[in-house]
Parts: sequence; structure tokens; C-alpha cells
Amino acid sequence: MGGAAVAAVLAACSSGGEESAPSNDNAGDDSGGAGGDVLAATSDVPVGGGVVAGGVVVAQPSDGTFRAYEAACPHQGVLVGPPEDGVITCPAHRSTFSDADGSLIGGPSPQGLTEVPVRVSGGNVVRA
Ligand code: FES
Repeated sequence: MGGAAVAAVLAACSSGGEESAPSNDNAGDDSGGAGGDVLAATSDVPVGGGVVAGGVVVAQPSDGTFRAYEAACPHQGVLVGPPEDGVITCPAHRSTFSDADGSLIGGPSPQGLTEVPVRVSGGNVVRA
């Protein structure tokens, strides 16, 4: 584990696409109060991988596309691990989920992961 993530991070940084709105800190966001909480730096979320922070798993299923899900496994509430090769795995009983949409791939979980709406702002993945 580990080393390959660094190269993927560098690739993710150069792809951009979300850098056209740099002047929006707290002013114009009318999405309802809780939006804007930073979940992870985009540079910490490699394509096909991701991080678990603050009860949320943040993934980048394809270059420049970020997704986040509640990290509590629907089976018994154990926190899932970060995605590896596009698959999110619960360490407790090995339920597996897609990093693209949180859907259940296999294991005892009765359902997929609950999506957390996110957007990219200032080089971070934040709650939408
Ligand atoms: S708690 Fe996740 S598979 Fe059982």
C-alpha cells in the first residue's frame, strides 16, 4: 500500500476544471448553512482511492470527479476503509461498495452507502 497514491495525487492536481470560481468564500452560498465544510484536499484523494475523515469517505472514481458517502457501514455501523482500486471495503465483514455511486457490490450489508453531496472549492472537497 501507499506509494502509488503519490503519483495519482500529482495527476489529479493537474486536471483542474473547477478553478474558475476562486472568489467565493462565504459570501454567495445559499445552499443552507452546513455547506462548505472541508472534507479533504483534492490532492489527498487519488483516482480510484480516497480518504475517510469525519465519518465520511471521499473518493475520486474518475479523474476530476469526486464523490463522498457516509462511512458508517449499513450492516452494523463499522466505518468503511478508504477506496482501493475503486472499491470501498468494510473491514468488519467485508461488504464492498462502488466508489462511483456507493452501491453495494457484495457482502452482508443490506444496501449501499448513503451519498454525501460534495463539490470542489479552492482545492478542497467540501460539503455541497
Ligand atoms: S459492519 Fe460492515 S460488513 Fe458488517
